[in-house]
Amino acid sequence: MSISVFPTNQDLDPARLREAFGIFPSGVVAVAAEVDGAPVGLAASSFTSVSLDPPLVSFSVANTSKTWPQLRRAGHLGVTVLADHHGQVCRQLAGPVEDRFTSVPISVTGDGAVVLDEGLARFDCSIYREVEAGDHTIVLLELHAVEHAVGQPLVFHRSAFGRLVG
Ligand SMILES: Cc1cc2nc3c(=O)[nH]c(=O)nc-3n(C[C@H](O)[C@H](O)[C@H](O)COP(=O)(O)O)c2cc1C
Repeated sequence: MSISVFPTNQDLDPARLREAFGIFPSGVVAVAAEVDGAPVGLAASSFTSVSLDPPLVSFSVANTSKTWPQLRRAGHLGVTVLADHHGQVCRQLAGPVEDRFTSVPISVTGDGAVVLDEGLARFDCSIYREVEAGDHTIVLLELHAVEHAVGQPLVFHRSAFGRLVG
């Protein structure tokens, strides 16, 4: 066994953490709903599947988010897994709120969940639980309906968009 050279006494400042977290590749989802008659939503790379029974997924939202307090008022939320051609749409969904859905084809369910028509997978969800987690809140979502298409996902890695090769 070799002696570890991994330095364990570190200053874990946000820039260092962001860089380290970015090593882990992820997909990106749009979390969206109709609130007061207009689509509201954001891009999130913190999405993950959680449970089959009950069917649960999660994402983490920053406690500074101005959108989440509105979004959480919706009865149902749509989660859309973005496709590899959605890089610009993803930037838009993270940008100025008034432009987030401009020229983005969307559908609204009867319960007010908003999904992107060209997404790879779509989930109709409602909030199951919110868990405080530091400067973020882990949002557990219960699934009510799912559908998916064949295609390549958008990949977020080291602060850049990419796609799967092969
Ligand atoms: C690729 C990508 C992934 C993101 N992932 C998250 C995330 O997981 N959680 C989060 O709170 N914000 C995430 N954001 C930022 C949000 O999309 C949005 O910009 C942020 O919530 C600020 O907007 P708001 O104040 O309207 O919520 C991400 C942005 C990008 C571009």
